[in-house]
Amino acid sequence: MDFTLTQEQEQLRALARTWVEREVIPHATEWDRAEQVDPGIVKRLADVGFLGLGIAEEYGGSGGDMLSYCLVMEELGRGDSSVRGIVSVSLGLVAKSIQRWGTEEQKRRWLPGLCAGELLACFGLTEPETGSDAGSLRMKAVRDGDDWVLSGTKMFITNGTWADIALIFARTGGPGPKGITAFVVPTSSDGFNRREIKGKLGLRGQATAELVLDGVRVSDEQRLGPEGAGFKVAMTALDRGRISVAAGCVGLARGCLEASLEYARQRQQFGKPIASFQLIQEMLADMAVEVDAARLLVWRAADLAQRGEPFGTQASMAKLFATEASIRVANTALQVFGGYGYIDEFPVAKALRDSRVMTLYEGTSQIQKLLIGRALTGINAF
Ligand code: CAA
Repeated sequence: MDFTLTQEQEQLRALARTWVEREVIPHATEWDRAEQVDPGIVKRLADVGFLGLGIAEEYGGSGGDMLSYCLVMEELGRGDSSVRGIVSVSLGLVAKSIQRWGTEEQKRRWLPGLCAGELLACFGLTEPETGSDAGSLRMKAVRDGDDWVLSGTKMFITNGTWADIALIFARTGGPGPKGITAFVVPTSSDGFNRREIKGKLGLRGQATAELVLDGVRVSDEQRLGPEGAGFKVAMTALDRGRISVAAGCVGLARGCLEASLEYARQRQQFGKPIASFQLIQEMLADMAVEVDAARLLVWRAADLAQRGEPFGTQASMAKLFATEASIRVANTALQVFGGYGYIDEFPVAKALRDSRVMTLYEGTSQIQKLLIGRALTGINAF
């Protein structure tokens, strides 16, 4: 693996950094307090090309490799994890699944709108009683002539109330992973109900929802991938999704380190900047090592994925380490800031609240450990 970025990657990273400094960072506290990011951010993300990363230009995408995608996710994560999540889900989990599994007609129908920010997508896998054990989900899709009729509930769905389309995983066959099929469902369909989930610890700006499908009718043309392949559709999306979450966590942690460095240099106690105290320097050093270690794991996983090598275990390692590290780093940053870290005038309180969900969604830390353990031992603990 080469650690030198290409000129295009450097330019994209610089563009993302400037864009986030202008479009996201000045508003992040206000969006967090209002519990909603400005919906106009979707169009602005599309205009700068960030909703089309990795999607072929013929479908309206902006192309680019997996590492380029991660560089942008790091910058978005540094600005606001709520904004990063909008992209990770609509583009990373849904648009890329349509590109990977869709028919030519499905790709032409959905991808240009998703890349242009005219459509937003959500990923409907988790259910009230099905989190880690995704293969046992209960949402039903029953065949009726040329159509399917979907009924059931999805829970904790990112972009849920904003999305125009939902990638819904439903049971079309027997129990277990092989009985699941994926469908692209417009959220405007009759019987498609959604309720926003409020009161979250973090990611307050992001629209998280419960989706209740009550006899939603879709044609067989809206099936994504073969019947019974839905679990594979979900897992292949999550393999890359986990790298994207990890990259976002690198950005979140880096933001905490940068803010801590700036604060520690100017904050005076005992007649000198607190950055001159060894116990503060230890905290800063620990944070810097965590950020770099997490980034290297992300880049390794992205590089393997890009080259078409197996990368699932490395994605789990990156997700496990970067998400846990982001909590440690945000918590340490709060210690550097002291009382000022506990109020939302400085960014670290929000970062700590936002970081906490990272070890839960797109596969908990425990699931990542069991996936790594299974790869190491060849023994399935699930
Ligand atoms: N790629 C391709 N195929 C895969 C795969 C992968 N990564 N992982 C599994 N499969 C296939 C297997 O090969 C197997 O098929 P075969 O029998 O044909 O070989 C089939 O799928 C079943 O696999 P498992 O036996 O491994 O399935 P399992 O029931 O033991 O579950 C699990 C494995 C890893 C625990 C899985 O259920 C899992 O990842 N759980 C976590 C769920 C999760 O991450 N949820 C996130 C929700 S989405 C979200 O958070 C988005 C958001 O809004 C932010």
